[in-house]
Amino acid sequence: MKTKFDYKGIRSEFPFLSRKVNQKPIIYLDSAASSQKPQNVIDQLVKTYSQSYSNIHRGLHTLSEEATNSYEEVRLKIARFINAYSKEEIIFTSGATMSINLIANSYGLSKLKPNDEIIITVAEHHANIIPWQMLCEKTGAKLIAVPVDKDGSFHISALKQRITKNTRIISVPHVSNVLGTVFPIKEISQIAHENKAICVVDGCQGVTHMPVDIQDLNCDFYVFSGHKLYGPSGIGVCWGRAEILADMPPFLGGGDMIDNVEIDSSTFAIPPSRFEAGTPPIAECIALGAAVDFVTKIGMKNIENHEKSVLSYGHQRLASVKGLSFVGTSPNKSGVISFTLKSAHPHDISTLIDQDGVAIRAGHHCAQPLMKFLNLNSTARASVAIYTEPEDFDALAISLEKVNRIFGA
Ligand code: ALA
Repeated sequence: MKTKFDYKGIRSEFPFLSRKVNQKPIIYLDSAASSQKPQNVIDQLVKTYSQSYSNIHRGLHTLSEEATNSYEEVRLKIARFINAYSKEEIIFTSGATMSINLIANSYGLSKLKPNDEIIITVAEHHANIIPWQMLCEKTGAKLIAVPVDKDGSFHISALKQRITKNTRIISVPHVSNVLGTVFPIKEISQIAHENKAICVVDGCQGVTHMPVDIQDLNCDFYVFSGHKLYGPSGIGVCWGRAEILADMPPFLGGGDMIDNVEIDSSTFAIPPSRFEAGTPPIAECIALGAAVDFVTKIGMKNIENHEKSVLSYGHQRLASVKGLSFVGTSPNKSGVISFTLKSAHPHDISTLIDQDGVAIRAGHHCAQPLMKFLNLNSTARASVAIYTEPEDFDALAISLEKVNRIFGA
């Protein structure tokens, strides 16, 4: 298989690849759950903690100024990375889950009333279901899920059928973490706006695999987690349109989000500070900046092309394994290959192939409604990143054939 750039060289930037698991070289096909970290991210984390760590936005001393500047530089870097209109639209959160909870509790709670409707799809991660369910309980709004096709494709017509004059929020994944389906965000945003609703995008599995230009997508919120983008855990992003953020009340209260505090009432800072209460994960945020440098240097288009060709090889290679069925075969796919094997339960598959050093995820993938929709209780899932190579799928296929032999298939 030919790729257009030196991914072997890029692999050498990931120290985890030099370790063994069960005496075998590691084959890491679980990047959708969390990606591994390149050396520059690890170095940045160590550098911040060892040389320029301090709390931010509070101190007037050198260390605090250095940490504040580095933290704010990352805000600008992220804004450029996703083509936000301004850096003030970038809110740092603990991850995508917190970002959606922020939108639901701030925007949702202040805007929704009984019988308003929130539309999601059946292919959501629980993080894009539960916060809306909780919001519905508090406001009397209704949660509606749009189906996908059996192959995992999403059709705008299915969304159109469910939109009503009460629709206020449409919240969808950029890419399904189970099916790999890439959702038509531009079209979904357009339909949302035509119906006076907003479009929220769970970008966890999108921003890691393809260039993201939120101005082009034309959505209203785009959220993601740093740990899937080669960055540390505990840091994530909630991008929101400035005019929407300006009109949203705070979600969490505490230090750094205030304008003036009295004992019986307070006024709050303008965004993004209004939504960043308390001390954030400072070093982790600065290291997320290093992760953005890392992917920017390679080029998101190059990453997308490399992963597409690895994924295509993966499908081809796994198709030869006896009894294997793919779950999610939409023509426009990214990031993951979910599958079942006739001979063994996904949990048994995962446990057995771990003996060969092969790491995949098995289970419901935090998408129980999707599993029920597909009449499954779990799948096995191999997922890719910039360091994934075609040989990883050779190793997976060989290991799966071994599982078949053990279970007598
Ligand atoms: N959302 C992560 C996954 O799909 C944890 O595995």
